Amino acid sequence: MAKIYTRRSARIAQTVALFTAALLLSGAAQANEALAQKNNCLACHAVALKLVGPAYKDVAAKYAGQADAQALVMENIRNGSAGKWGDLPMPPQPKLSDADLKKLTIWVLSAK
Ligand code: HEC
Repeated sequence: MAKIYTRRSARIAQTVALFTAALLLSGAAQANEALAQKNNCLACHAVALKLVGPAYKDVAAKYAGQADAQALVMENIRNGSAGKWGDLPMPPQPKLSDADLKKLTIWVLSAK
């Protein structure tokens, strides 16, 4: 009896831990999405759809496994980019703070 009870509470504790982790993760994703919104990125981009610019999940797929991806993509966001995804260029983003640029880059490269 006691054994069953213990096993059940362990399972409940595990479920609560998983749920908390999921909530924390979705909170972080929402914060990043709000940051992208605030910096106008979502006027031209979406995570899963190509709009004016490439879908972020396609960007993540393109650079997956590339060791210098983060530095490269940070540079391309900061200075703008042309000719990699189509005919339209991306304008440079001089007003983006270094901290926000890094957060957005990590978020884009983890998009699925
Ligand atoms: C005016 C529209 C526009 C805005 C605003 C914009 N982008 Fe883009 N973005 C584009 C286009 C177009 C491309 C494709 C450029 C190319 O073909 O090289 C692109 C490319 C990218 C890429 C891929 C770069 C690479 O190295 O392959 C990333 C990452 C990206 N944008 C992130 C962002 C982020 C983050 C913001 C907000 C700070 C943003 N973009 C704002 C239009 C935009």
